[in-house]
Parts: sequence; C-alpha cells; structure tokens
Amino acid sequence: MNGPVPVDILRQHLIDPEICIRCNTCEETCPIDAITHDGTNYVVKAEVCNGCMACVPPCPTGAIDNWRNVFKANAYSLDEQFSWDELPTQNPTVSAPAAAESASQDAVSEMPDAAVVASDLVRGSTVPPWSAARPYVNLYTHKAPTTATVVGNYRLTDEATESDIHHLVLDFGAMPFPVLEGQSIGILPPGESAEGRAHHARQYSIASPRDGERPGYNNVSLTVKRVTHDHGGKATLGVCSNYLCDLKKGDVVTVIGPFGDTFLMPNHPNSHLLMICTGTGSAPMRAMTEYRRRRRLKGATGKLMLFFGARTQAELPYFGPLMNLPKDFIDTNLAFSRTPGKPKRYVQDAMRERAADVAPLLADGNTHVYVCGLKGMEDGVLQALAEIAEAHGLGWDALWARLKREGRLHLETY
Ligand code: A2P
Repeated sequence: MNGPVPVDILRQHLIDPEICIRCNTCEETCPIDAITHDGTNYVVKAEVCNGCMACVPPCPTGAIDNWRNVFKANAYSLDEQFSWDELPTQNPTVSAPAAAESASQDAVSEMPDAAVVASDLVRGSTVPPWSAARPYVNLYTHKAPTTATVVGNYRLTDEATESDIHHLVLDFGAMPFPVLEGQSIGILPPGESAEGRAHHARQYSIASPRDGERPGYNNVSLTVKRVTHDHGGKATLGVCSNYLCDLKKGDVVTVIGPFGDTFLMPNHPNSHLLMICTGTGSAPMRAMTEYRRRRRLKGATGKLMLFFGARTQAELPYFGPLMNLPKDFIDTNLAFSRTPGKPKRYVQDAMRERAADVAPLLADGNTHVYVCGLKGMEDGVLQALAEIAEAHGLGWDALWARLKREGRLHLETY
C-alpha cells in the first residue's frame, strides 16, 4: 500500500534556441512530423515525438539534443517553446526523486533502439570519414558571436543571367576561427523580423579550405545566391542573401559557428572523392577540391570526380577556375538544364553516362561520396547511384548501408 507513488514523467525533447541555426534539417529528418517551426524557433511536439533520435545526428550544432524531465501534465507547450530565447533549466523536483527517475527510465526503455532507428531513417552518414580531422563546432554562438571583415565580394555568374551568385571573402583578423572543408558558418543579418525580434542566423557552407581562402590567412569564403523568390515562386527578397550580396569591402558582419561534424573530407592521401552538386552546393566541393589541390604536391594520390549541375554555363559558379584544373587532377562533368536548343540535363544523367567510371569508384573502400545542392536532387542522385551499383554487380542495399556506416556518404540538400 505504501509503495512508490506512480509519477507520470516525460523525458521531453527540446531544441536549444540559443544554438539552433534554423537550418530545417531536424524538421526534414523527423519521420513522424514531430518538429515544426515559426518565424522564431524550431520546436518539438511532445505528444508526437517518440524519441527515435533520427533528427539528432544530422543537426549541425547539437541544438537538437536537449531533454528535460517534466511531469507529463506540465509538458512544455508549442507556444511556450516558440516564446523561448533560451531553454528552461531542469526542474530538480522532477528529475531527482527515485520514482521519477525510474518512470523516466521506463519511458526511455520503451523507445526503439535509437541508434538502429536513426541509421535506418537517415539516408546519409551520421559519422565523419575515419581519417577526417577533428572539427571545432559552436565556438561562437548567438549570445557570443564574433565579427569578420569583408575583404572581397565578387559576382560569379554572368551579369546577363538571372542567377546572382557571389563569392564573398570574410577575414577574422586575430580572432581564432578554425574550420574544415564541409563545415558551415552562420551569419546574423542586422535588423529585425516583422515580429520585432532580431533576425536568426542563416547558415552558409564554407567554400574555402582549412588553411584559408588565401593560404595562411585567417579568412573563409562563402558562395551566396541572391534569393529573389520564396519556395512558392512569390517575389520576396531573402533577408540574409541580399544583405551579403550587397556588402562592400571593409563592411563588418556578425558570425557564429563553425558548424558541422560529419560532412568532412577524408585526410588519407589515397582517398577518392566523388562529388555531386548543383548551384551553390558547389561551396563544399570547391573547399575540398582546393584543399586536395594544395595537398597534391605533398603526395595525395586519390581520384577526384565531380558532377556539377547548373541552369546554363553562364550560371555555373566557378566555371572558369574549374575548367583550368588539370584533367589528371579532377574528372569534371557538367550538366546544364536550360541551355537553349539542348535537352534538359541533370547531374544524375551525367552520372549514368559515366557509369563505367563511377562504378569502380563505388566499389573502392577509399571512396567518399558527397552530395550538396537542391533538395530535389537527392532522390535522383541516390537512384542513379543505385542503378549504377546494381548494373555493375554491387548490391546497392548492402553498399549503401556500408557507405553510411563508414562515413562515406554525405548528403546536404536544402
Ligand atoms: P532546372 O533547370 O530544372 O531548375 P538552381 O539554379 O535553381 O540553383 O538549380 C541548379 C540546377 O539544379 C539547375 O540546373 C536545376 O535545373 C537543377 N535541378 C533542379 N531540380 C533538380 C533535380 N531534381 N535533380 C537534379 N538537378 C535538379
């Protein structure tokens, strides 16, 4: 009669608004639509989330990996989560009692095996390549950002084209800002949203290698496309992209990051890179290619194969420099979708045409695959990889699982 009082405790999944960079990865990854957002915060629906953990590994900042023990009846509502600037602290009266602990443990043990579920649901690797260098993340946050000075801002695409893509170089001066290829940074644009809150950070992949856009300098470059329409096609000026594309030399920007600890390049010299990108998704590929170019003289021998899609040649960022790279250094394949008088061609079409050369790379345990660009390309590229593998006697399901497990298949689409 005097046994422990049953306490209905929930281990509530929450997202830290101070670190979250609103990249939407968690919402896209969640298999049961438990994550949503407003103009301010990303939040988790307590009654829907089953703690499957699929969203945790892909989060570039770790903001997603926050949990509070709460009485079920007092679970934080969506409105409460939307209003937060920071996470509430753990209420000690909920987490401390033994009865509460055991109830919480029961709740957790009812969850499916998190690691297994996560690896099944996530399509790419959630671990870095074994030989990747160790990245720094979250050195600068919304609460404690740093600044960088614009030292270059160049339009990459032909003036006559609709795509206005810029190459922006930011210098951190004496502030330490260590980065690796494949990581991203967050830019805090000045001003406020319509609701009167400071704009949240926008995430951009770094386009320069770890030793600087200019070797030996403490600077990074970004590839920024001016957003002039929303996803529905309505004319809208993107807050941060327009701010960045209009910056002048000497302007100072507020930066957070760096972010990302899995989309990283292998460091062993005989590793091969199979890179597939569209538009500004070329940023991490440029960073990796340039790092390998600099390493080449130091004995890096692995192959580089690139599939790069754009509307037209004039809209392909870095076209000139890319074409100047030696053919024995990188095998470059371009796919243009809107060249007048020519049929639409996507990266996956180019991959199929080169199947005879893609297949041996896929079969090689030293190959690392990177996909970055439009969300829509992800299905098409995975389908092409599957077809190429199957046609060459490489069972795709087992190969796919192996690539993911070994940190050799990295997907970043938006
Ligand atoms: P499209 O001409 O059909 O838009 P953007 O310039 O919008 O960033 O796009 C970069 C390139 O990616 C364009 O050539 C675009 O073609 C192409 N693209 C669009 N959807 C897909 C897809 N599902 N798979 C591969 N490429 C795509």
